[in-house]
Amino acid sequence: MPVMSTYTLVLGGTGKTGRRIVARLQAQGVEVRVGSRSLPFDWYDATTWPGALEDVETAYISYFPDLVVEGAPERVGAFARLAASKGVRRLVLLSGRGEAEAQRAEQEVIAAGTEWTVVRCSWFAQNFSEAFLLDGVLAGEIALPAGDVPEPFVDAEDIADVATAALTQDGHHGEIYELTGPRALRFEEAAAEIAAAIGRELRFVSVPGEAFHAGMLSAGVPEDEAVLVSWLFREVLDGRNVEPQDGVRRALGRAPRDFGEYARVTAASGAWA
Ligand SMILES: NC(=O)c1ccc[n+]([C@@H]2O[C@H](COP(=O)([O-])OP(=O)(O)OC[C@H]3O[C@@H](n4cnc5c(N)ncnc54)[C@H](OP(=O)(O)O)[C@@H]3O)[C@@H](O)[C@H]2O)c1
Repeated sequence: MPVMSTYTLVLGGTGKTGRRIVARLQAQGVEVRVGSRSLPFDWYDATTWPGALEDVETAYISYFPDLVVEGAPERVGAFARLAASKGVRRLVLLSGRGEAEAQRAEQEVIAAGTEWTVVRCSWFAQNFSEAFLLDGVLAGEIALPAGDVPEPFVDAEDIADVATAALTQDGHHGEIYELTGPRALRFEEAAAEIAAAIGRELRFVSVPGEAFHAGMLSAGVPEDEAVLVSWLFREVLDGRNVEPQDGVRRALGRAPRDFGEYARVTAASGAWA
């Protein structure tokens, strides 16, 4: 007798978006398989993929470290085709805005033959509290090679709401949702909103790209990660992604969360204490 496909696989299931999706699915009583290297699932070891996909009906694909790194579209495509061949019915891909390589990965998933949804996101607000900007917030100074170009930061809570809906409900197949917050802020303005929420000074300093890169290396950031972050500031923050988009409203019928709300909720959680 064929085995029923019953799991939802959440890749990056311990990360910023994945763990929020896992929590939402579990609250709905969905059987979840948390995809991370301890499952094991490793993007760089394809022998771990078939086991992770056993009895899976729907999957959330979050690549690591980023869809813009060399080989990412090919790996994501190979994974999506394997998923389709193993009977996975629906794939939801986390993607980035304004990135050619990410959009190539989207095409790979779209062509794999399952139902699909793309959540194409702007910079996460949670980069300030759960990623490379956290140390700067705690130290009271964020030094970045970012000038006057604003970014409509999206809240990972919204990404998780959209991805969970796409995984569990009909009506999202074939959609590319551009997910942003409701307004674009310069990094300096974002820092000011965080400062107001935490009630302490948070300086913003605009630094040249080379100095930023060197600073990351001397702070012990691995070379690969430093190259990636520098590239993102240089290439993606050039104004191409400034305009807020309606993806959250199209997917969920409500407005996206504002950065100010993110800052207040995060401050209250103690993440910046
Ligand atoms: N941050 C942003 O502003 C932004 C914006 C748009 C798109 N994105 C996209 O978001 C994705 C990252 O998602 P996220 O921020 O939710 O995750 P994250 O917080 O960066 O966490 C990374 C996740 O990937 C897992 N992981 C690490 N190395 C892995 C490997 N070799 N194979 C398989 N899994 C691995 C980690 O678990 P283990 O360590 O336990 O393995 C963890 O669950 C990237 O593809 C990036 O392009 C980010």
